[in-house]
Amino acid sequence: MKNLASEIKTHFDLVIFGGDGDLSFRKIYPALYYRLLEKQISTEDRILALARKKLTNEEFGAVLKAELSKHIESLDEKILANLLSIITYKVVDINNSKEATGIKKYFEKKGDRVRAFYLATPASIFGQISSFLGQLGLINDNSRVVLEKPLGTDLISSEEINDKVAQYFKESQIYRIDHYLGKETVQNLMVLRFANNIFERSWNAQEIDNIQITVAESLGVGTRGNFYDKYGALKDMVQNHLLQLLCLIAMEPPITLDADQVRDEKLKVLKALRPFTKETISTDTVRGQYTRGKTKEGHLPSYLEDIDKYDSSTETFVALKTYIDNWRWSGVPIYLRTGKRMPHRFSEIVINFKHVPHNIFPEKKEIDNNKLTIRLQPEERIELQQMVKIPGPGGYRYKPFSLELDYADHFNDRFPDAYERLLMDVVRGNQTLFMRRDEVKASWEWVESILKNWKSEKVPNILYEAGTKGPGDLIMDEARAWVKSRHILKVQERKTDED
Ligand code: BG6
Repeated sequence: MKNLASEIKTHFDLVIFGGDGDLSFRKIYPALYYRLLEKQISTEDRILALARKKLTNEEFGAVLKAELSKHIESLDEKILANLLSIITYKVVDINNSKEATGIKKYFEKKGDRVRAFYLATPASIFGQISSFLGQLGLINDNSRVVLEKPLGTDLISSEEINDKVAQYFKESQIYRIDHYLGKETVQNLMVLRFANNIFERSWNAQEIDNIQITVAESLGVGTRGNFYDKYGALKDMVQNHLLQLLCLIAMEPPITLDADQVRDEKLKVLKALRPFTKETISTDTVRGQYTRGKTKEGHLPSYLEDIDKYDSSTETFVALKTYIDNWRWSGVPIYLRTGKRMPHRFSEIVINFKHVPHNIFPEKKEIDNNKLTIRLQPEERIELQQMVKIPGPGGYRYKPFSLELDYADHFNDRFPDAYERLLMDVVRGNQTLFMRRDEVKASWEWVESILKNWKSEKVPNILYEAGTKGPGDLIMDEARAWVKSRHILKVQERKTDED
C-alpha cells in the first residue's frame, strides 16, 4: 500500500460520531493507526471523536491506548503518540446547542479541507445527526458522510433513513459501508474476472453448473445479542455482504472502474434476482438457530442463552437457492449460505463448471467437474480443480488435482484491514467500494420477498447444534452438495494428527 501514499494530497478532518464505541475501537482507530504508520495520513490531518461519555482528552487518550493494544500487536509508541496528537475528544449531545458551539469552533480556522463525518452510531439517528450538522452549517462541498450498516431493518425503514440523510447530503457525498468490499480478496474478484481472459469466456450458463457462496462464522452472537436479535442472519449478512459478493461474481464487465459504472452493473444483478414466492420459500430457503453444542474446547451455549431470552424466532443460519434471471445466468442455481457457530470460520466462493459432455476414457470412472474455489478468509487462496492422468502404466487412469495459489506463499506483507482501504477511499472521494442508494433498495426488495414469505408460510427455524454445519444441505440435491473445501479437509486432518 506504500505506493499509494503520494496519492493522498488532500488533508482531511474526520469526525467520528460514536467515537467511543465498539466499532471505533475495533476498526476505525486501528485503521487510522496503520495508515499513519504507512504515511498515508499525516499529523496535518485531524480527527474529532464525538461521544456522550464525559471524558477529558487525556482520559480518552488513555482509554484509546488500552483499546489499541488489544487489537494491534506491538504498538509503535511514536505512531501512537502521533495518532493521539491529532485526535480531539469532545462530549456531544446532538440535542444540546451549547456543546454544538464547541464543534463549530473546531472547524473555524481550517476551512478548505476534506471533511468526513463517520456515523458509527445506530442508523436510527443518522437523520438526526445529518440535521444537526446541517443546522450548524458544517456541510459544504468538501463534506462526505459515511454510513455504517445495517441501514434499517426492512425496505421502508432503510428508505426512511436514506431520505433523511438525503435532505442534507447529495448522493455523491454519501458513503454506505459494506466492509466486505474493502477486503483484499474481495477486491481481487475484479482482477480475477477482468484481468484474466480465460475465465470470462466460460463465465456463463453454458459452462457453469452452479455457484456457491458461503460465509461461515465459528463465533456466536457474543455480546451483540440485543442488536442481533432484531436482525438475524438474513438481514445481518445476506442483504449486504453475500449479495455484494454475488454482484461481483455475476455482474457484466463494467466499462471502467468508475464508481457509477461499477455500481450500475451491480444494480442490474440485484434487479435480476428472482424473488421468492410462497411455492419456493419452503423448498429453496432454510433458516436455522443454534442450540447448545460441544467442541473439544468445551460446551457452547445456545442462541437463547447467548441473548438471555426464553424464546426468539431470529435465525442465526440461512441457506438459500436463487437464480439471476438474465441471459448470462439463466437457469444457473446460486446457493448462498451463512451462519454463526459453524465448525470453522471461512468465507468462500465456489464456481462449479459443468461436467464434460461425454466420457471417452475406457475406465468410465466419473470425471469430476472443474471447480474454481476462491477462499476469501481466513486463509486467502484460489484453487482450480482439474482432472489429471495418474502417471504410469495401466491406461488412462485419472484423478482430480488442484492448481493452488496461496496468498501467504506469494505476498508477505500484512494485508490492510478492509477499513483502512475504505477510510482512505472516503478521503480520496472514491465511491466505487461503497453501496449506492438504488443498490441498497434493490437488495432490500429481494430480501423482503423472503421475509414476507417466511412470515406468511410460517417457515420455522431448524435447530442445529452449535459447532455443527447447520441445515444447509436441505436445499441441495446430492450432486450439488455443499463442497467440503480441500482446505477444510486439510485442517481437519492436521487436527486429527495432533490428537
Ligand atoms: C458484520 C456482521 O457486518 O460482519 C457480523 O454484523 C459479522 O455479525 C461480521 O460477524 C463478519 O465480518 P468478518 O469481516 O469478520 O467476516
